[in-house]
Amino acid sequence: MEQYIMKGGNPLAGEITISGAKNAALGILAASIMTDEDVVIENLPDVRDINVLLEAIQEIGASVNRINRHTVKINASNIHEVSVDDDYIRKIRASYYFIGALLGKYKSAQVPLPGGCNIGSRPIDLHIKGFRALGAKVDIERGAVLAHAIDLVGSHIYLDKVSVGATINIMMAASLADGQTTIENVAKEPHVVDVANFLNSMGANIKGAGTDIIRIKGVRRLHGTEYSIIPDQIEAGTFMCAAAATRGDITVKNVIPKHLESISAKLLEIGCEVVELDDAVRVVGKPRQHHTNINTLPYPGFPTDMQPQMAVTLALTEGTSIVTESIFENRFKYVDELARMGGCIKVEGNVAIISGVNGFTGAQVNAPDLRAGAALVIAGLAAEGYTVVDEIGYIQRGYEHFERKLRSLGAVIEKVDSDKEAQKFKLKIG
Ligand code: EPZ
Repeated sequence: MEQYIMKGGNPLAGEITISGAKNAALGILAASIMTDEDVVIENLPDVRDINVLLEAIQEIGASVNRINRHTVKINASNIHEVSVDDDYIRKIRASYYFIGALLGKYKSAQVPLPGGCNIGSRPIDLHIKGFRALGAKVDIERGAVLAHAIDLVGSHIYLDKVSVGATINIMMAASLADGQTTIENVAKEPHVVDVANFLNSMGANIKGAGTDIIRIKGVRRLHGTEYSIIPDQIEAGTFMCAAAATRGDITVKNVIPKHLESISAKLLEIGCEVVELDDAVRVVGKPRQHHTNINTLPYPGFPTDMQPQMAVTLALTEGTSIVTESIFENRFKYVDELARMGGCIKVEGNVAIISGVNGFTGAQVNAPDLRAGAALVIAGLAAEGYTVVDEIGYIQRGYEHFERKLRSLGAVIEKVDSDKEAQKFKLKIG
């Protein structure tokens, strides 16, 4: 099983170019099958979830031409299957986007219920509510969602909870429905806006993405397009926290600073220097950083996907910080792992009480999910001594060449897949 092994203690410093946004790319790739014309997508992140989704798109009959690791040309004119059934696809959350895309284009879809990181129950009731409101019959049978409609007709949909997935999925199906659809209480994340912009570049008529209400005028068909994915807000935030936690100096490049405002604000609160440039943000950690409080909220609030990385950073500040996880019910699984490194965090329900410590010591820890895994790597790079992070497959789902990018910032880290290789690393580093 592949692991990361690292020797902590080096402040990370330098510049890093951020990859395309995974959670935008997943929706955009699914939406790309909604036309029979060529679609070229650039700035794709080269991560496992994207590669799995491309395999599934190919499997249902679309042609997928990987021009390079970050660019793909898709043509869905030969799709012969509206049933997506692939073992691995069950493991990723984004499989549900096939429902909205196939239902919109073919008025029929059969897709395995989504998997994804175990950070909570992760229902899709709001997705189903939206599809039914558009006139689809939706059933769950044998672990799959079966959706079918004679016609999709525009409707007025209110989302009981702010949901990124439901917003994107319903937006896709409604793009090819007859008439006007209004979706209220929608998610406003940058990746939601990116998927809306992508659909509009294909001829959809979507207004209001990024606000609380999205209005869609259905069109008869969508045409081909060329599109470049926005930079990944969460990858950028992860490296910003790495700068703070290791007391380093990192400039994240190819970002949209506005998307990072809540993260920058919190790093400023704990005493970091944060400098916003046109398409970059520089974070300089300080020897003495102090506590603050975090409450994860839908965008533009503090992102839940940044909660573990920020908690690790707060665990190395002076004083007591309170982190409230308002989006998912099981997103503190890294706390027990961090305790093995000297972290002092007490979880009460959806609140973590973090007592800052002077430093971590290296240990063997397990990545419980994607973002917690990245947070434990940050902890290992800030710790004194060696740390091994297991289960790094989670991390590779969402971070492109994570260890390579960290090494370019001075991190002493390698990906190994045996104890022997880990020993060799230790002998090499000393
Ligand atoms: C997306 O998940 C992201 N995944 C998650 O990122 C991210 O944490 C999440 O949005 C919130 O920003 C992808 O985009 C592939 P939600 P999603 O629907 O769509 C509840 C990562 O690290 N809910 O916005 O599944 C749900 O239980 C991943 O990259 C319902 O109750 O999230 C949660 O409490 C982890 N019913 C809340 O809404 C539904 O039908 C927000 O979930 C749907 C969601």
